[in-house]
Amino acid sequence: MPAKLSAMRADITTLQLDAIVNAANSSLLGGGGVDGAIHRAAGPELLQACRLLGGCPAGEARITRAIACRPVRHPYRRSGLEGGERGEPELLASCYRRSLELAAAHGVRRLAFPSIGTGVYGYPVELAARTALSTVRGTLKELSTIEEVIFCCFSAGDLQVYQRLLA
Ligand code: AR6
Repeated sequence: MPAKLSAMRADITTLQLDAIVNAANSSLLGGGGVDGAIHRAAGPELLQACRLLGGCPAGEARITRAIACRPVRHPYRRSGLEGGERGEPELLASCYRRSLELAAAHGVRRLAFPSIGTGVYGYPVELAARTALSTVRGTLKELSTIEEVIFCCFSAGDLQVYQRLLA
């Protein structure tokens, strides 16, 4: 069965899934935006787990073990967009593709992405959402174990963009 794709407006740390993806910088040692929210929700255990990863090059992804993120438990995937020109579609696509591949390799079936790159990194949401959707759709053709991908939007405007493109 093809994976279910949807968009919703939520704080990603509240979603009860197998995994959530973070939008981190290449140090993986914390930042603002969704990264800050995830670290606040998970507590210092996440930072300790990230220190062991030794960073993450742009366009790559890393995974940590499940860490309590009140009130749910899930692993975190971290996707790096830093390092290239801002607004680089190949790098953004690679973040989504590598995160999905890593998720599937770890048995994750249901996961959520934030709108990677569209906050601090300033990627226009419409362009980012097009890249996100086409990359996720394409990658899922090769990853049959993933059942559900949620595009977790923080603003009503972002949700509108994703919903229009998903329709
Ligand atoms: N749940 C879901 N989405 C959120 C949340 C949340 N709790 N908080 C923010 N967003 P950003 P980037 C949305 O800036 O542009 C960090 O400092 C936000 O509204 O978090 O990829 C890292 O360490 C926006 O739509 O990530 C990096 O240095 C989206 O998440 C850098 O920012 C992404 O915004 C990464 O920049």
